[in-house]
Amino acid sequence: MEGVIDSVTRDLLTRSPGFDWTVTEFVRVVDARLPPRVFHKHCPELTQARVATPSGVPVHLQLLGSDTRALATNARQALALGAISIDLNFGCPAKIVNRHDGGASLLRHPERVFAAVKAVSDAIDGEIPVTAKIRLGFADRRQALHCALAAQSAGARQLVVHGRTREEGYRPPAHWDWIGKIRHRLDIPVVANGDIWTLEDYWRARSLSGCKDVMLGRGALADPWLAPRIRHWLTTGERLAPTTWEMQADVLHQYATIQRRTLPPKIVVSLVKQWLAQMRQRGGEAEVRFQKLKRITDLDTLLDALLLPRSNQEHEQRVVKEPTTEQPHHSERAFC
Ligand SMILES: Cc1cc2nc3c(=O)[nH]c(=O)nc-3n(C[C@H](O)[C@H](O)[C@H](O)COP(=O)(O)O)c2cc1C
Repeated sequence: MEGVIDSVTRDLLTRSPGFDWTVTEFVRVVDARLPPRVFHKHCPELTQARVATPSGVPVHLQLLGSDTRALATNARQALALGAISIDLNFGCPAKIVNRHDGGASLLRHPERVFAAVKAVSDAIDGEIPVTAKIRLGFADRRQALHCALAAQSAGARQLVVHGRTREEGYRPPAHWDWIGKIRHRLDIPVVANGDIWTLEDYWRARSLSGCKDVMLGRGALADPWLAPRIRHWLTTGERLAPTTWEMQADVLHQYATIQRRTLPPKIVVSLVKQWLAQMRQRGGEAEVRFQKLKRITDLDTLLDALLLPRSNQEHEQRVVKEPTTEQPHHSERAFC
């Protein structure tokens, strides 16, 4: 996730088993071949023997662009640098990106999705997999299936579908049933994405889409134990205890400790607040702490305040968003 998930975040989120693979922030391709340093910045894991997080979870490299020749050239460049897979982004809704003909803007013309995937597949020539990520469309869902089929017939080996159009931005709900319509028509694996914040959401996304796999975005930042929670439940049928504030604070602390080795304290302060802002989306103590910490500018003060035990009074004031009452039952796994 651009500006939010970097190699340090990937490392921290994959320390407990849960994720099968991760994807870099998008590398923006315009018209030229990008120098190796751009790829290494987005994917420092390329410099290691295995392009994976320290705990061994593979890292896929994502490109975003529309110029087929430049995409092909940069896919070859990524391959030469050791990329193990190329993912193409057709989902980014940012105005600046769409104005320059990138991300979700290509979803208006399925033939352009086809051309981009084909150019990269041809350039890579089967040496590593090419995958794609789409939304359900730009303004509406009329082209959703056409875009998915275009990606498949151009050579994509897997398709992630974020269950919203570009116009829907990040407004709930994500239409998991629509992802199911696409999955039903495709032969390649389809991965469901959008609005999976809890184990219950995971279950409903799987049930409505029929997808075996899901992609987690903001939900994994809000609760770094969401993927391990899902994995644990799938393998044992038991639920992990809810994530506490102390667990979230510990992750933020580790994050800051690693980031401050290479980044100025001021930047680390904003990065920590940015992650805390994702955590507060689920309410609870993270929301209370965010309100208390948002004006702190000194890194050490911020870190001390994160670890401060909460007083009884704070505890009572806690904002708790109730999780959905629908509970997954392990025995329902039959449909897997
Ligand atoms: C700040 C931010 C940055 C994102 N950057 C990327 C990106 O670089 N590549 C990508 O494929 N999706 C990106 N996304 C989209 C997410 O991967 C995901 O599709 C979307 O947030 C819906 O899933 P979620 O509800 O689990 O977050 C980004 C989303 C956000 C909020």
